[in-house]
Amino acid sequence: MPKQTLDQLIASGEKIAMLTCYDATFAKVCAEAGVDMLLVGDSLGMVLQGAENTLQVSMQDMIYHTKCVAAGAPNTLIIADMPYGSYEHDIKDAHYNAQSLIEAGADIVKIESGNVVEVTRYLAEHGIAVCAHLGFTPQSVQQLGGYKIQGKTDESARKIIQDAINMSVAGACLVLLEMVPAHLAQQITEIIKTPTIGIGAGVNCSGQVLVLQDLLGIYTGVASKSPSDYKAPRFAKNFLAGNHSIQQAITNYVQAVKNKTFPATEHSY
Ligand code: KIV
Repeated sequence: MPKQTLDQLIASGEKIAMLTCYDATFAKVCAEAGVDMLLVGDSLGMVLQGAENTLQVSMQDMIYHTKCVAAGAPNTLIIADMPYGSYEHDIKDAHYNAQSLIEAGADIVKIESGNVVEVTRYLAEHGIAVCAHLGFTPQSVQQLGGYKIQGKTDESARKIIQDAINMSVAGACLVLLEMVPAHLAQQITEIIKTPTIGIGAGVNCSGQVLVLQDLLGIYTGVASKSPSDYKAPRFAKNFLAGNHSIQQAITNYVQAVKNKTFPATEHSY
């Protein structure tokens, strides 16, 4: 079956089920399980490289893992994260780096924060599909003072809404909302034309994403810390618990997203 386009996926009217993925074997399993889109996230910094955060992930890392995922799931839509430092400084560098990810097999590149409207516009005008990542943006974890829910005050909620409008108008094809109140994500989804993908953003986004290792319940925090010190984020759900196979767990996730039973209230803010 040829690769579905994002427009076809959206036109289907179904909720979009997305998962992070970093290698060919899991990419193939995810594709078989019916995952609509794979995100080669820079969360690989923590999940694969054992780092404290995403900040040391390089373009080379992202190109390598995007190639791996594209090899394993050639007919699944792939989003690749542009790593920290690869798009914020110079628009031409951003274009060059985005092109490298597309050449590696990505269909869409993802960039973080509402401060990159011009980069988004430039990339979109040059034929590169961009997903905007708003709310909690992991590349700004230091400035945000840790892993904290965003958009709780009226002022910060208004800022996220305005950022989403700006990124949508600049040509973003998706807006990913991380760790924002469910009612705010719903409001944004109703206001902008661009589909939204939520992680810790409630059930009313156009789709959902989870980190694969969270779905499997095997991520126990950064490598330097004891698993006993780790508390999984509220939005994570272990779909492997009570299931006989990884493929079944992923299939159940896809179905739960499609029938809106995930995320439940207990996974939302
Ligand atoms: O890098 C990543 O995995 C992400 C998700 C948390 C959305 O950006």
